[in-house]
Amino acid sequence: MKIAVCGKGGVGKTFIAGSLAEYFSRHGQSVIAIDADSSPNLALSLGLTVGEASRIVPVAENEDLIRLKTRTDYSGVFRLTFTIDDIIEKYAVKTPAGPGLLIMGTVKAMGSGCTCPAHSVIKALMRHLVVDRDEIVILDMEAGIEHLGRGTAEHVDTLIVVSDANRKSRETASSIIRLARESAILDICLVGNRVANPREVEILRSCAEENQVLLAAYIPYDSDVADAGITGDPVRITDSGAPAAIAGLARNLEAANEEKQSKTRGDQR
Ligand SMILES: Nc1ncnc2c1ncn2[C@@H]1O[C@H](COP(=O)(O)OP(=O)(O)OP(=O)(O)O)[C@@H](O)[C@H]1O
Ligand SMILES: [Mg+2]
Repeated sequence: MKIAVCGKGGVGKTFIAGSLAEYFSRHGQSVIAIDADSSPNLALSLGLTVGEASRIVPVAENEDLIRLKTRTDYSGVFRLTFTIDDIIEKYAVKTPAGPGLLIMGTVKAMGSGCTCPAHSVIKALMRHLVVDRDEIVILDMEAGIEHLGRGTAEHVDTLIVVSDANRKSRETASSIIRLARESAILDICLVGNRVANPREVEILRSCAEENQVLLAAYIPYDSDVADAGITGDPVRITDSGAPAAIAGLARNLEAANEEKQSKTRGDQR
């Protein structure tokens, strides 16, 4: 199962991506969480300390690794085929919450036509993680819509678009859904976050309806989560509030994935 989590800045992408990754890991699955945000902070959600997080060198900024992989001898000339597995074994950091964590980092001027060595490594790594490997992969994406043009989430099975009830968040969510439809992403769903009352549930339900996507879950406003945001501590797993709603979302994603796989097996017979 390969899931990307996106949405407007501050809507709760990292909280949801981290909680899903932790849920699957606690339930015995092998999980790789990818921080694809240019200002990464998924590490803290997965229980690493600020010091530990700051020592992780993002893949795109690891010049030795990029040079080793692409053998950039002359400017503009580099190798396009290289092994990727060893990057994951070597650079995915085991987190206290369970998942392995890879921080992708920023590739400057990374447009869809960008052909710099770091971009080619990141693209190959993303493709490999999402297409070839068996682990559950959860991508915490950069805020907004620009990253969709770079194709970093292009092979995922499910795109989770997070929105709170605010108009601007809903508009960003709608733009993301429109753009994602034009790409090869098959399953797109909306997840409402920080939902405080029935009116907000209704607003998010209409947003999903207008965009013709499933409202896969709404996560309530949870003061423990807000407090954890203030202190920088990971959210304590409880069987109520936001963590319980995310566990429900994770179970639904698992069930949908099982169904998809058994359909594929049936089609192949
Ligand atoms: N359901 C919730 N209830 C209360 N607070 C929440 C909830 N979800 C997220 N938050 C808080 O909102 C803040 C923003 O969340 P988060 O960092 O996950 O957003 P983001 O979309 O990843 O932001 P960015 O775009 O900056 O990466 C955090 O302080 C987090 O603790
Ligand atoms: Mg974030």
